[in-house]
Amino acid sequence: MTFGLYDYVIVENFFTQSDFESILLHLPSSTVYVKDMGYYSHKRTKVKLGSEHPITRLIQDNVDRVNQLIGEKTKHYGEVEVRKYNKGDFIDWHRDYDHLNVNAKPNYFECVLTCTNTSDSKTEFKDECTGEINSVTTEPNQFVILCIQGVKHRVTPVTTGERIIIKFKLKKI
Ligand SMILES: [Fe+2]
Repeated sequence: MTFGLYDYVIVENFFTQSDFESILLHLPSSTVYVKDMGYYSHKRTKVKLGSEHPITRLIQDNVDRVNQLIGEKTKHYGEVEVRKYNKGDFIDWHRDYDHLNVNAKPNYFECVLTCTNTSDSKTEFKDECTGEINSVTTEPNQFVILCIQGVKHRVTPVTTGERIIIKFKLKKI
């Protein structure tokens, strides 16, 4: 299987129960999130995790499982971020490759793990050929993988509740 440019995979219950509980246990306390000023039209807060953080280590321990899902050989790249969407927060339609060198962009994958979600926001994926939109309510321990220059996606504004996710990248090796 080859992972196509516009493919994306959504996996329920990606981490084992005990690993996922450990991830929830090690989430940063709500006081340390900072406003995220990024490239896109968005509003949210985030915390960057260090390379020795237990959550970063758990992610690195599971990269081979992601590789099996997408049929690629990759390794963890860059920082792991925890992002929190509160009331009014969102991220508009985007691809993630603007952060990276244009020549390098086919080699990266974006991964998102939902930690908690009491919000009414939807994660949406757009087929730019047909205009069709796949609208998903992300559940705890649900994992999404996509090519960073692939499918356009967004998170619709939260009007109630909050949503905490972990975001990281993988790079082809
Ligand atoms: Fe994204």
